[in-house]
Amino acid sequence: MIPTPAFVVDEPLLALFAERFESALERHWPNSILSYSFKTNALPWLISYLRERGFWAEVVSDHEYELALALGYPAERIVYNGPVKGRERLRAALAAGSIVNLDAKREVEWAAELGRELPDAQLAVGLRVNWDLEARVPGESTTGAAGSRFGFNVDNGELDEAIARLRAGGVRLAGLHMHRNSRSQAVDVYRASATLAAELIAERGLELDWVDIGGGFFGSVDGRPTFDDYVGAILECLAGAVDPARTRLIVEPGGSLTAVPIEFHASVVDVKWVGDSRFVVTDTSRTDLDPLFRRSRPFAVDLTTTSTATVPSQIVSGFTCMEDDRLLTLEGAPGLRVGDRLVFRNVGAYTMSYQSTFIELPPAVYVRDATGAYTQVRERASVADYLRGNTWLPARILAR
Ligand SMILES: Cc1ncc(COP(=O)(O)O)c(C=O)c1O
Repeated sequence: MIPTPAFVVDEPLLALFAERFESALERHWPNSILSYSFKTNALPWLISYLRERGFWAEVVSDHEYELALALGYPAERIVYNGPVKGRERLRAALAAGSIVNLDAKREVEWAAELGRELPDAQLAVGLRVNWDLEARVPGESTTGAAGSRFGFNVDNGELDEAIARLRAGGVRLAGLHMHRNSRSQAVDVYRASATLAAELIAERGLELDWVDIGGGFFGSVDGRPTFDDYVGAILECLAGAVDPARTRLIVEPGGSLTAVPIEFHASVVDVKWVGDSRFVVTDTSRTDLDPLFRRSRPFAVDLTTTSTATVPSQIVSGFTCMEDDRLLTLEGAPGLRVGDRLVFRNVGAYTMSYQSTFIELPPAVYVRDATGAYTQVRERASVADYLRGNTWLPARILAR
């Protein structure tokens, strides 16, 4: 048994999810780019594993871009998105042949400036489109009335202004980036974004190298929609506007790929009664499992205990000093004892990348293979790592 606390990557399950994405694209849109959204979980082992499978990197900061290079992604297999690109990194990425989707007005200026400097380079960029999801699919927006802040708005002319500024610098608009998060992750959201992309292409006479539909997909072992459902619908909506053999579809899955195959293994460190409440204190915390303390739906947990007597109610808690660091309430379960184990399932998305130094340093990570054998791919960060300033990337990480 591995020591706790630790994240565990279930490699066969990760491979299953990766294979589903690969085969859906192969079936519907072979001329596509399957890129992995680094921000979701930037564990070096995971990033290297996906590179070896042929995934591209989808990055949203200079730091993520440099991480991709450091872990062996060639520049021409990096999709560079997000509003916080630095000028020098943006210029280098364009010169090196990365796919770049601009998201800030200063980036448009920088690209146009480079276009003027290098008229023979035939620079080409994509633009993130800011569009009204709520108007097209009511009830799906996660942003409230103020709308999304990403990209260039279609309705107020800012998208057309960005296109004109690029043209003035000799830079071709080669792609549209349509990513939106949604409430239900329904296929209709992707129908809406693909339909809007098709309208923009037709109305503006665009000749695109790529349509980047983004991430935000649902991912589960046997639920719907499947990735096949999504890509089939996207193709239907775009087939009349682009030639799929010429224009590449880009997808950027994050959580839908990494959430389910990653578990957290924890142990009970103390059990105490306070009045009628039974508290079970563990060696994990919301800082590991729900770093934004936002989760309201219950965790999926497997218990391993030697106890047979059930107790009506137990509050399973984290180790931190915050009173609201409570993980779940078990009703009618065996009374947990010190040393009993809990495995929290489906916790791979937006957990490790928000890892905390609050009270404890980030935990170890193991990979479990098809035989059930465990390999450690990251040690728990140490005080020496912390003092070296390597808190976010412990030096002894074992990249593949
Ligand atoms: C531009 C972009 N691409 C991809 C993703 C990944 O989304 P998800 O983790 O929902 O798949 C995000 C997440 O917000 C994003 O902003």
